[in-house]
Formats: sequence, C-alpha cells, structure tokens
Amino acid sequence: MLVKCKKREIMEKNEKTSFAQKLYDLTELDYLVIEAYSLAIKEMENLEYKNKLESFKNDHERHITENVSLLKKHKEMYPKGPKFSQKWIVKGEVMVFNLLGDKKILDMLSKNEMETNEAYRCICAHEGQWDDASDTIKRGFEDEKRHKEWIDSVLC
Ligand SMILES: [Fe+2]
Repeated sequence: MLVKCKKREIMEKNEKTSFAQKLYDLTELDYLVIEAYSLAIKEMENLEYKNKLESFKNDHERHITENVSLLKKHKEMYPKGPKFSQKWIVKGEVMVFNLLGDKKILDMLSKNEMETNEAYRCICAHEGQWDDASDTIKRGFEDEKRHKEWIDSVLC
C-alpha cells in the first residue's frame, strides 16, 4: 500500500531527519490521505459513512493548514500537494477496492489511518520537536486515533 511506503519513509528518516523535514513528510502524507478520502467519498454508497469520512477529510485539511503555517513560520519549505505519481496510485487503489463495496473501501482507509497513526507516533517522539508545534501535533494525533477507531468500529 502506497501510504504504508510513505510512512516507512518517514520512520526510516526518523533518526537523521530534522523536525522540519518530518513535518514536511507528514503534511505530504496528509495530502495523500485526502486524495484517498475524496475518491472514497465519491464512490461510497452509505450516506452515514460518506458524512463521517467528509469530517475526517476536513480534519486532514486542517492538519495541512496548521502544519504549513508552522513550516512557514519557521521559514521552511512546505508541500503543495501529494507527489503526482502517488496521487494516481491512490486513485487506482480506491477504484479497485470500490468494486468490492463500501466495507472494502473502509478497510483500505483503516490501513491508511494505521499508517498516519504510526507517522504521528513517530513525529511526536522526535527530539527536535518545536515548542510551538507540540499542541498541533498532539491534536493531529488525537484526530488520527479517532479516525482509526471509528472506521474499525464499523468494520467489526
Ligand atoms: Fe485520519
């Protein structure tokens, strides 16, 4: 799964990468997850699921806004979207899962949320974390836990 590859990339860089780069990578991951949510919302049949996923997508958009604001404040580079190639791979994944129904799409999103949770766990532990990033990162991590819990509760 593509999002998993992105998370592994973040994990591997953990020890030798600056906090700014990790925040950049996390924000890029948010863009990728939003792509998956956008496509999933379009394809999903259950209205309750659609509405919930829309709210999760909004959380990820807020994460991007907040992360970019931090990166700008610290005069660091920030991503403006997912990598073009990754965007199309995510689209392919959603289209394939869609053939198998709403629960299969949710299953794919659950795996994505597992990756974002791991990425947040990783950045929360970064020794170079900026003081002014702490609240934003913690709030984002709480959102990710909530997303994963809800999706998994539907899949049970
Ligand atoms: Fe999420």
